[in-house]
Amino acid sequence: MGTTGQTGPRRVRSFVRRTGRVTAGQQRALAELWPRWGVEPPADTLDLDTLFGRQAPRVMEIGIGNGDVLLTMAAQYPEQDFLGVEVHEPGIGHCLLGLEKAGLDNVRLIREDAVVVLQHWLAGACLDRVNLFFPDPWPKKRHHKRRIVQPAFVALVAARLKPGGLLHMATDWAPYAEHIEEVLAASADFVPLAADSDRPPTKFERRGERLGHEIRDLRYRRQ
Ligand SMILES: C[S@@+](CC[C@H](N)C(=O)[O-])C[C@H]1O[C@@H](n2cnc3c(N)ncnc32)[C@H](O)[C@@H]1O
Repeated sequence: MGTTGQTGPRRVRSFVRRTGRVTAGQQRALAELWPRWGVEPPADTLDLDTLFGRQAPRVMEIGIGNGDVLLTMAAQYPEQDFLGVEVHEPGIGHCLLGLEKAGLDNVRLIREDAVVVLQHWLAGACLDRVNLFFPDPWPKKRHHKRRIVQPAFVALVAARLKPGGLLHMATDWAPYAEHIEEVLAASADFVPLAADSDRPPTKFERRGERLGHEIRDLRYRRQ
């Protein structure tokens, strides 16, 4: 599975690699189902038409967690292709079990840092939509640099989105919503859209709601 790292000085990452508890079912899924839905690091860059065996609108979801939202949206929009990116192994295993049950053909999973995927695995403006739902908020000031939404990340997403493409983010952490708005306001590549949402509720969203946090959807159109 994906191990492609970046060469050069160590980049600040938006996650901490944790092994996590992989259940027996997830272990089987990772061994048996990965060849069908998993994507290995490409020698060059990914050809998405070959990967999905068709031409279709392409959605990337970054940080799928347990993959429930990815599965729901992929079932809801069978005419679109979904690339789910996650670094946490149990989440990938959980999602593979869901894929087996639903038998969805329009989903592929990547186990790698989404920044590496955007930078090295993909080329050109190949995506119609990028979803980033409840990214780790890194609330402590000294950890703010770990937040995935930074000017360089936004520029990278802009490079991979087709003109008119959608960047949909959501967070339950008010200071992160403000940070996202500041970073996106400074980008000439995106214009803000109304805060509608077509996404299903996520696991982290429910947790945020239990804690009394306000949920914010932040959507931007690639110019
Ligand atoms: C707070 S959880 C939210 C999960 C899910 N979107 C939800 O709302 O339930 C954030 C997830 O993003 C993943 N993540 C963080 N940084 C990432 C990166 N650079 N590339 C891929 N996944 C990442 C983490 O492993 C974690 O599962």
